[in-house]
Amino acid sequence: MRQSPLPGIVVLISGSGTNLQALIDAVADGRVHGEIRAVISNQPEVTGLDRARRAGIPAQVINHRDFSDRSGFDQALMAAIDRHQPELVVLAGFMRVLTPAFVEHYDGHLINIHPSLLPDFRGLHTHERALEAGVQQHGCSIHFVNTELDGGPVILQARVPVLIDDTPQTLAARVQQQEHRAYPQVVQWFCQGRLTLRNGQVWLDEQPLQAPLQLSGPAVLADTH
Ligand code: GAR
Repeated sequence: MRQSPLPGIVVLISGSGTNLQALIDAVADGRVHGEIRAVISNQPEVTGLDRARRAGIPAQVINHRDFSDRSGFDQALMAAIDRHQPELVVLAGFMRVLTPAFVEHYDGHLINIHPSLLPDFRGLHTHERALEAGVQQHGCSIHFVNTELDGGPVILQARVPVLIDDTPQTLAARVQQQEHRAYPQVVQWFCQGRLTLRNGQVWLDEQPLQAPLQLSGPAVLADTH
């Protein structure tokens, strides 16, 4: 009899790995029907690696400083990922810009979470920049990765209010709460075969998305009080 294994996932991290933890927890309690086959970090000794090991997931460091150029690092990363034959590669706080060769290799199978409501605030220091700009709403976006930095088609966003006394830290913490709800949801859609990228367009349940989906729910409402 043919076995149907769970869709394989490889998670790339650079730091604390709270989004990785949200995915580990969601797999453990059945909200994500996938198998995290490996976690790879470009930074040695980060907390995210401990989270993977505690969950019994193979954890590996590929230090970008060991490579003389971006392309060499990306080739090594691709080889390490492909050993696990994943259906999905998840960037979860992975802070390296990837080469077009890498991005094209995983076209339609590579997603990222970015801490802003894209297309606003691409790049770094998004919470500081949101406060400086005086926006009333901020949030996170999960998108398929293409060759444009933080420019791939957005799947799902979660919004939070910006409060009058917010600092970059308090705002980041509010956004991260939503990241931890939103990312498992998107990974589950992908694992269920409901989410695809076709000719640069996001499809969910056989419908092309006309605009990014918006996560709603109690935690968002709770934050407005
Ligand atoms: C997350 O807030 C994520 O949105 C951000 O890094 C943080 C990683 O936290 N990603 C980026 O800025 C990507 N450009 P975590 O390691 O605790 O998941």
